[in-house]
Amino acid sequence: MKAAIFDLDGVITDTAEYHYLAWKHIAEQIDIPFNRSVNESLKGISRAESLESMLIIGGAQTKYTNAEKQALMDQKNQYYQMLISKLTPEDLLPGIGRFLCELKGENIKIGLASSSRNAPAILKRLEIMDDFHAIVDPTALAKGKPDPEIFLTAAALLGVSPADCAAIEDAEAGISAIKSAGMFAVGVGHEQSMLDADLIVRQTSDLTLELLNEEWVQYGIRKIKE
Ligand code: BG6
Ligand code: MG
Repeated sequence: MKAAIFDLDGVITDTAEYHYLAWKHIAEQIDIPFNRSVNESLKGISRAESLESMLIIGGAQTKYTNAEKQALMDQKNQYYQMLISKLTPEDLLPGIGRFLCELKGENIKIGLASSSRNAPAILKRLEIMDDFHAIVDPTALAKGKPDPEIFLTAAALLGVSPADCAAIEDAEAGISAIKSAGMFAVGVGHEQSMLDADLIVRQTSDLTLELLNEEWVQYGIRKIKE
């Protein structure tokens, strides 16, 4: 393993909850149903795709013009930015600071593959921007997760072959993207949404370099047998 590539929302910090709250705020305004189960299907996907999905689920896909949709996305983002403006280094999820230190100690490259346009601002607020050797710009990509492009771009920026990368995600679309990129996939959270992951940890505090290295060896053995 030469590089570790991180998703941001729900892996490094709990901003997945803030995305949920911000979309819920919009859904209430336009009177469409929204709950945590709908939100689960939005994790990892872009702002525009998230709105489209919500409108489809709410039976309102033809109700709004493009300008109105843009206004809804802007409103969601303003609400979201109000929430993230309060983030501090204390908001790193448990064990993430320690895990980043372990990776740096072993000279493992660290990359960010987040679909969020707000990612750099969040890394700054968490004071971990300097830990990252590469941060993918999601606006420069042709396709979002579950397409592998974002993870392949991170690997290319880090100068590491995808086969030598482990990537960490909390969303189904993200795990699919990692596997399609030919990388070792670490899922954080509930097993149902990450059936394809090579390693699943219930919470970020369970993420250690020692565990990752052990599972990496097992993964190598499985690949040789295939
Ligand atoms: C992903 C989140 O990381 O970023 C999604 O999981 C979110 O919920 C997406 O919609 C886009 O984020 P932003 O900040 O650009 O609206
Ligand atoms: Mg996420």
